[in-house]
Amino acid sequence: MKKKFLSVLLAGTMLMGLGAGCAKKQDSKKVGVAMPTKTLQRWNQDGDNMKKKLEAAGFQVDLQYADNDIPTQQNQIENMINGGCKVLVIASIDGSSLGTVLAAAQEKNIPVIAYDRLIMDTEAVSYYATFDNYQVGTIQGEYIRDQLQLDSTDGPYNIEIFTGDPGDNNARFFYGGAMDVLKPYIDQGKLVVKSGQVDFETVATADWSTENAQKRMDAIIAGQYADGTKLDAVLCSNDSTALGVANALEAAYTGEYPIITGQDCDIANVKNMINGKQSMSVFKDTRTLADQVVEMVKAIMEGKTAPTNDDSTYNNNKKVVPSFLCKPVFADATNYKELLVDSGYYTEDQLK
Ligand code: BGC
Repeated sequence: MKKKFLSVLLAGTMLMGLGAGCAKKQDSKKVGVAMPTKTLQRWNQDGDNMKKKLEAAGFQVDLQYADNDIPTQQNQIENMINGGCKVLVIASIDGSSLGTVLAAAQEKNIPVIAYDRLIMDTEAVSYYATFDNYQVGTIQGEYIRDQLQLDSTDGPYNIEIFTGDPGDNNARFFYGGAMDVLKPYIDQGKLVVKSGQVDFETVATADWSTENAQKRMDAIIAGQYADGTKLDAVLCSNDSTALGVANALEAAYTGEYPIITGQDCDIANVKNMINGKQSMSVFKDTRTLADQVVEMVKAIMEGKTAPTNDDSTYNNNKKVVPSFLCKPVFADATNYKELLVDSGYYTEDQLK
């Protein structure tokens, strides 16, 4: 009897040992999620959504924000690799600065999913999940074309252009999509960029920062529009730049308010849309993107191929990265309620 009790005890202890092993096994399900910054509303939502949805799917999550500082993001990813993460999900600050740290991930066979922004110049990226970035730009460009009726009126109309951070591959897609629509009208002289600032490098906004956009718009107003010259439209690639442009206009521009585009449907910008200070935005439902990335993570953890729907567009200079593109949606003051409030993205109170 005693012997039997002892062996039961022994088996129990072994099981407990296995239990500890199980805790370790959980480790094999850890996912590292690296986000660029907390200063922009969308990345907070992205990070929260990813954490919630990955945890609901049974994974542990190491979620880090890097304050838009490249070395911080590199360190955080290094810690994720050394801390036992089995998959990395990365929204890069600068798409070209992660080659060295991701080589370490590749050595340990840790797959990497580029989140929203493509990671450039490295083989060590397995998948890319994003919204159709070119289409975002097209939606913005077509909006300006249609609002100014560029095909049926003579103009000329004055326009200024603001895009995003040059280290963010998306910025080139947004700019490219919009300029493919607008450039023919600039070439015809129907659209006039009075500042003369048109090429990508000149109209880029470091860090996508509201302050940087505002400073450039301040200078453009002072130089070109302070005498009452009408500004008809400002192409802004996203909401943080649109906010800077709106702030500058509010402070120094006296003419009729121009068309201003945006992207993200940030709360401050939706409020501006409601108050007529921003014409439109592009809604990219971060819940949809998170769902898609969770599907990718699940597939990878099960040793399967992750679902993609575009295996040709996104070349990172080393390889074409299999991608899943979600659909961006046009938003303005007429449909924001349905898109944002009815869908539970925001509460009505948040937009007051
Ligand atoms: C994202 C945009 C965002 C911008 C600034 C881009 O990579 O696609 O949604 O507005 O970064 O954070």
